Amino acid sequence: MAYITQDPTPGPAPVRIGLIGSGWMGAFHADSIARRVPGASLAAIADPNVESAQTLAGKLGAAKVTASAEDILADREIDAVIIASPARFHASLIAQAAAAGKHVFCEKPAAQGLEELGAALTAVEQAGVHFQIGFNRRYAEDFQAAKRDLAAGVAGTPQLLRSLTRDPGTGSIPNAARVPAWTIFLETLIHDFDTLNWFNEGAEPVEVYAVADALVEPSLREQGFLDTAVVTIRYSNGAIAVAEANFSALYGYDVRGEVFGSKGMVQAGRSTETAARRYTAEGLAADTPRLNVELFSQAYTDELADFAAAVRAKRDGGLPPSSAFTLTPVGAHARRALAMALACIESVKSGAPVAVTEKAGV
Ligand SMILES: NC(=O)c1ccc[n+]([C@@H]2O[C@H](COP(=O)([O-])OP(=O)(O)OC[C@H]3O[C@@H](n4cnc5c(N)ncnc54)[C@H](O)[C@@H]3O)[C@@H](O)[C@H]2O)c1
Repeated sequence: MAYITQDPTPGPAPVRIGLIGSGWMGAFHADSIARRVPGASLAAIADPNVESAQTLAGKLGAAKVTASAEDILADREIDAVIIASPARFHASLIAQAAAAGKHVFCEKPAAQGLEELGAALTAVEQAGVHFQIGFNRRYAEDFQAAKRDLAAGVAGTPQLLRSLTRDPGTGSIPNAARVPAWTIFLETLIHDFDTLNWFNEGAEPVEVYAVADALVEPSLREQGFLDTAVVTIRYSNGAIAVAEANFSALYGYDVRGEVFGSKGMVQAGRSTETAARRYTAEGLAADTPRLNVELFSQAYTDELADFAAAVRAKRDGGLPPSSAFTLTPVGAHARRALAMALACIESVKSGAPVAVTEKAGV
């Protein structure tokens, strides 16, 4: 006689996540939660553009759709939120979510100023919730392999560091006139700043000197639009770094990082979509990643898996995920990278190097 046996101990309840902001990045995060992150479920979506939230919920099966983030924050069934609204709302949403007892994953930047970030992180601390910032590059396999090597001392003492972002483009930038001021520092290079800080762990960024221009859209130079920038950074351990960005690489999405030190060099950054190569009469060709969600699909998923595991550990009293090296980007990392972006803005305005300070109003 055959018996069907069932394990009587139920598994841990999934981490129920509410999405705030269902645009480009929010939609991808929702898709990851609903389809690729184990132990997490997409419980609700909030967006003032309710149609966008409804369309996404219809595709992914989220039970609740609302125009207001407050509905999600008041919902006792929701453990955590992903904030993927425009940057100007981040700091107040973090503070409100923490006050409502929700764990928070927030897209970068966590804030647009150090004072509002300070208030948001104080709310996080007071509520005792988990906070993670969306510095996804840390989760890309090649960046993690480089970090593992650096933590093992492969490059020796860092002397030169480099990080670059070239966003995919067509040679002109759609809706460039509506891109918020200083986006290149606050939303693009902020990733590079975190990568450099992570690769040069233990050292503090001391000073930045930023040069920026509108080279893709020169007609918008007069109104302050910037699409190209180079930043040099001095670190407290003497290392000198360069970060650079451009908004229109015709060959695709190009993100790289490098540390050169006393013992050697470590590099990260995948320039081709697959390992396949095409050899023809014209020469050698390969496909390149075109979109952020292609290049960083695995990283975007793994950062949320890390978040869900940390929330589950906090909620259920288990052990948080462990790693052989610093991995999860938290409030202090968000603050350090933002302080660098803000110092870059001052540097462009003054044309001179600017000290990096993590204190508001200094
Ligand atoms: N990590 C990355 O690689 C990466 C890539 C792209 C964007 N981002 C970040 O994600 C965030 C969103 O960018 P995006 O490209 O998805 O923008 P988007 O404009 O496509 O989407 C923003 C969405 O937020 C909604 N929204 C506006 N106000 C809101 C509010 N108060 N509450 C809730 N939702 C609100 C809008 O209606 C829109 O649907 C930005 O901070 C951006 O820097 C990160």
